[in-house]
Amino acid sequence: MIEIKALTKAYGDKVIFKDLNLALANGEILAVTGPSGIGKTTLIKTLTGLEPAQNGTITLDDGTYPVGDPKLAAKVALIFQDFNLFPNMKVIDNLTLAPRLVKKESKSAANQKAKELLAQLGLSEQADLYPYQLSGGQKQRVGIARALAMDPQIIAYDEPTSGLDEQSTDQVRQIMLNLKQKGVAQLVITHDLEFAKAVADRNFDFAKEVQYG
Ligand SMILES: Nc1ncnc2c1ncn2[C@@H]1O[C@H](COP(=O)(O)OP(=O)(O)OP(=O)(O)O)[C@@H](O)[C@H]1O
Ligand SMILES: [Mg+2]
Repeated sequence: MIEIKALTKAYGDKVIFKDLNLALANGEILAVTGPSGIGKTTLIKTLTGLEPAQNGTITLDDGTYPVGDPKLAAKVALIFQDFNLFPNMKVIDNLTLAPRLVKKESKSAANQKAKELLAQLGLSEQADLYPYQLSGGQKQRVGIARALAMDPQIIAYDEPTSGLDEQSTDQVRQIMLNLKQKGVAQLVITHDLEFAKAVADRNFDFAKEVQYG
């Protein structure tokens, strides 16, 4: 689960949101919708400390953390629209880097887990390719596989289906539903209301729920 309390974020003098509260149970999928520029991407960046916030606490299954606590970065996975894959590393190495560096997994254990994840996501053949050799849908799934390699409790996706065809969109939906079965809490920013309806349990409408200033 994740419970966000009293989260406030400003860029300089410009308040993006104030005292934002949001809770998700394990296995729940929340669609986050709202107009461009309202603060959706900013919200998920503050969950790991990628963007500093002015105030707030984040409660996970194992405790309550002040927003910005570095421990959150290993527990909450963010998956961005532009994938952020490391371009100079093969797919398999994209998956094993963080588990080895952050979780101190052995090379063989990290490799074994990475191969299992790639197989689950239909990417076994792509393990030794570089990101530039992948299609958009494959890159998106590698981004998801890389996040899953860290065994996150929470996954937040930023527009996971933008630019994907129907088949790739369906694969992403399947991945999310499988993770739901495993009890992962997922937060999905999307402008695709049809996708939101197909995958999410609830909708968080930024324009309605968020206070400014
Ligand atoms: N690093 C930054 N410095 C200053 N202002 C920023 C920064 N990042 C975002 N903003 C501003 O914060 C507001 C919210 O941006 P954000 O990217 O969170 O919007 P969004 O809801 O994700 O929009 P979209 O649907 O277009 O992706 C915007 O006005 C944006 O210009
Ligand atoms: Mg955004």
